[in-house]
Amino acid sequence: MNTQVLLLHGPNLNLLGTREPQVYGSDTLADINQRVSEFAAQRGITIQARQSNHEGALIDALHDARTWAAGVVMNPGAYTHTSIALRDAISATQLAVVEVHLSNVHAREEFRHRSLLAPVCVGQIAGFGWRSYILGIDALLGHLGLLK
Ligand code: DQA
Repeated sequence: MNTQVLLLHGPNLNLLGTREPQVYGSDTLADINQRVSEFAAQRGITIQARQSNHEGALIDALHDARTWAAGVVMNPGAYTHTSIALRDAISATQLAVVEVHLSNVHAREEFRHRSLLAPVCVGQIAGFGWRSYILGIDALLGHLGLLK
């Protein structure tokens, strides 16, 4: 069976395409999932994409991924800046997680500069629009030694 990666999207990302396109671009979440899946498939990887607006559901998705995912590329949305529970879930599962953001959070409001999750992630990629996800997959596969 193919190596599988969880692509996990947090709150409000289901609205991509119509949500502040000047900040997040005009691609929908389905467009992004499609591009990421194609990029991963070229490298022999299968993407399982999930989105939730609920912190607990994102935590459940991480717990579930322990049994099948080689790693996770995650855009935690605003939970990046607030969620100790998601941070603990990443630590507890010991999953390799790459944190990604469409926008350059460091160039925005001060409350977006801090990530509670980045210290327990492999690393963070921000500011490249939908390509942040592609870079995230590439970084994760490199980290896992899965790049051919
Ligand atoms: C975001 C940045 C967060 O600060 C924000 O709350 C989001 C989207 C991004 O992808 O740029 O929901 O994660």
